[in-house]
Amino acid sequence: MPQAGFFQNNLEPLLTRDQVQARVQELGAEISRDYAGKSPHLISILKGACIFLSDLVRAIELPLSLDFMAVSSYGASTKSSGVVRITKDLDAPIEGRDVILVEDILDTGLTLSYLHESLLNRNPASLKICALLNKPSRRIKEVHADYIGFEIPDKFVVGYGLDVGEKYRNVPDICVVIDPSANWH
Ligand code: IMP
Ligand code: MG
Repeated sequence: MPQAGFFQNNLEPLLTRDQVQARVQELGAEISRDYAGKSPHLISILKGACIFLSDLVRAIELPLSLDFMAVSSYGASTKSSGVVRITKDLDAPIEGRDVILVEDILDTGLTLSYLHESLLNRNPASLKICALLNKPSRRIKEVHADYIGFEIPDKFVVGYGLDVGEKYRNVPDICVVIDPSANWH
């Protein structure tokens, strides 16, 4: 498996960039079919989902629009605090729009269940969830994701937008962190 030079001994590839790209193309095609004749409004959660979003929108053959939200739930650690705080809200109202909430990973479900409810209160015409990764074994709050890229085991992963302490977001493959507490440079 090809590894970039900046891969450290602390990272073990779980999904290669080719696997990720192939699946993102499939998700884009599925969304294009499901929303044919519509113009979906994709809301992405900063920062983890931004690389996924940028590939996904180019795989959707429909007119669409984008907006961003930022939430803080984990801080710099790998443990969920259970507290979700909106640190950047949407630029535009979503009333009457066909909204797709794009997230990097569905883990405990705390973030997405909170955001789903918060967005429903703003009266979109429809609201679906698209998560690149799903760790079902970690679920605390039940969340239905309409589009899921991959189900993964209960391992902390980085790369393709995902970080540990803001590191490794630019690693092209999705990798398991062998020791999340290690401070590798
Ligand atoms: P949840 O609220 O527990 O579902 O967590 C969602 C957020 O936690 C994601 O958007 C990620 O930012 C972060 N997260 C959860 N699992 C991982 C992981 O394995 N790697 C990196 N970030 C993760
Ligand atoms: Mg994150």
